[in-house]
Amino acid sequence: MIIAIDGPSGAGKSTVAKLLAAKMGIVYLDTGAMYRAMGLKALNSGVSPTDAVEVEKLLAVTEIDVKNIDGTQHVYLDGEDVSTLIREHRVSKAASDISAIPCVRFAMVELQRKLASKKDTVLDGRDIGTYVLPNADHKFFLTASADERANRRYKELIAKGEECTFEKIKQDIITRDYNDSHRALAPLKKADDAIEIDTTEMTVDDVINKMISVLGD
Ligand code: DC
Repeated sequence: MIIAIDGPSGAGKSTVAKLLAAKMGIVYLDTGAMYRAMGLKALNSGVSPTDAVEVEKLLAVTEIDVKNIDGTQHVYLDGEDVSTLIREHRVSKAASDISAIPCVRFAMVELQRKLASKKDTVLDGRDIGTYVLPNADHKFFLTASADERANRRYKELIAKGEECTFEKIKQDIITRDYNDSHRALAPLKKADDAIEIDTTEMTVDDVINKMISVLGD
């Protein structure tokens, strides 16, 4: 079984995807983590994540892998576990920029399809239902207001000790939404057959219950 959960940053995809996968006893695959790993590689290498020529050269000497250890996803960049590092705010914009470069998308999509072909999986991302796995058994598209999404991200970053302001996080989210939905290849978009859930006023449990009711129908 394949469940696709797409939507903009901060809509709650990863939280609910993780819980839903655990409840159903299936694998969770966070596809954004792969673009984050590639974004981190560019930052570490002094390569601009918008420079398609240099990024293509860098991709050729980069190894990204994902492993599920005791139900938790670990992402490896050239053999190093970067699961925590990729969550830093500075990596978010780099991930969004680098994800617009076709050779990066082709490489990540190939890996996502390979991983999803092995086991029942819940995948979260931007293009899972439209491009990566258009034949997914179930598709959800999660949204929330920009204020609510910025508020969630802000609280998360503050809890981790990162210095930031609400206004900066909100602006970055709006920029990333624009980037992700305006790229030429596989932009962020609701699949025609996806069920849209606006999570602005919903708790995590509300969202999970709604999904489970859809899956049970
Ligand atoms: O879900 P996230 O915030 O970790 O994703 C980081 C960036 O990666 C996001 O801004 C766009 C890109 N991304 C993508 O293009 N396609 C996906 N399936 C997942 C993420």
